[in-house]
Amino acid sequence: MELPFDGAITHYLEKEAPDELRAAIRTGEKRDILSDSYPYSVRLSKEDYKAAMDPLQEELVRLQADVRQSGKRVVIVFEGRDAAGKGGTIKAMTENLNPRVARVVALSKPSDIEAGQWYFQRYIEQLPTAGEIVLFDRSWYNRGVVEHVFQFCTHRQREHFFRQLPHFEEMLVDEGIYLVKLWLNVGRAEQLRRFLKREGDPLKQWKLSWIDIEGLRKWDEYSMAITETLRRSDTHVAPWTVVRSDDKSRARIAAVQTVLSRIDYAGKRSKRIGAIDLDICRGPDIWDA
Ligand code: ADP
Ligand code: AMP
Ligand code: MLT
Repeated sequence: MELPFDGAITHYLEKEAPDELRAAIRTGEKRDILSDSYPYSVRLSKEDYKAAMDPLQEELVRLQADVRQSGKRVVIVFEGRDAAGKGGTIKAMTENLNPRVARVVALSKPSDIEAGQWYFQRYIEQLPTAGEIVLFDRSWYNRGVVEHVFQFCTHRQREHFFRQLPHFEEMLVDEGIYLVKLWLNVGRAEQLRRFLKREGDPLKQWKLSWIDIEGLRKWDEYSMAITETLRRSDTHVAPWTVVRSDDKSRARIAAVQTVLSRIDYAGKRSKRIGAIDLDICRGPDIWDA
């Protein structure tokens, strides 16, 4: 089966990519981390990852037990550019959890019926009941970024969205829902390297869509849309946590630590959660286009 955009990433790299980007990929062949502004040049070792992640997994199981017993409702929003690592982080977070407690929601583009509804409606339908953790792999933030970049929504619709957004999230929190918003931040060369890997891997090709291909040429539009979205939606009740994700292992650890730190649960062992690496995981001030 040949994909409709077979070879499109390689084509972009060879024929269209800005020179610096092409150079970063070429010289980066042996480099762990391509982004010069990333605070580490070498990825976390497998051993260090396991040593940090194992206790976090145990804490997630404790969180799950408490969510069930006390009937908490938890929403975790995962945002980030294509290939930022949302899927992998969600997988790491849910690996040892009961799918009846931890449910992943990845909505596709709105159907005709959904397109005629209130924009937030189909997301509201997915909100957790007591004892549930819902992980949104992309979310209502589509209107701030991808829908804007690809002109799937009008300027007025987006402004309307931004006007309602703080009220919407405030209502969730006021309702007692724990809301954690994670923005995974990937560098341009690293994103392209991940796309190239996907293109060459029959098990990963399915992750590529025409939006990814077109999106390569729209890096700057994305950057502007993300900057604006973070600025307009980082509120006191529903703050953003930005996770610099060029190193997937460090990003996964920081994402899990963030979730565990933000929620009070019975039997919480803060020492096991450990200190969050503030060089890669903090507020929108560390977002880096
Ligand atoms: P993913 O990154 O989730 O694998 P894509 O990169 O293909 O998926 O699409 C990014 C997001 O854009 C998805 O959430 C998808 O639902 C949304 N999207 C795609 N087409 C449209 C559309 N016509 N209108 C609104 N949203 C869309
Ligand atoms: P508070 O006592 O309101 O300051 O909250 C105690 C802890 O729970 C803090 O770490 C908060 O960040 C966290 N918290 C409280 N409510 C929410 C919520 N709705 N979503 C996420 N975290 C919350
Ligand atoms: C990611 O890796 O960030 C997403 O979950 C998958 C994608 O970008 O297509």
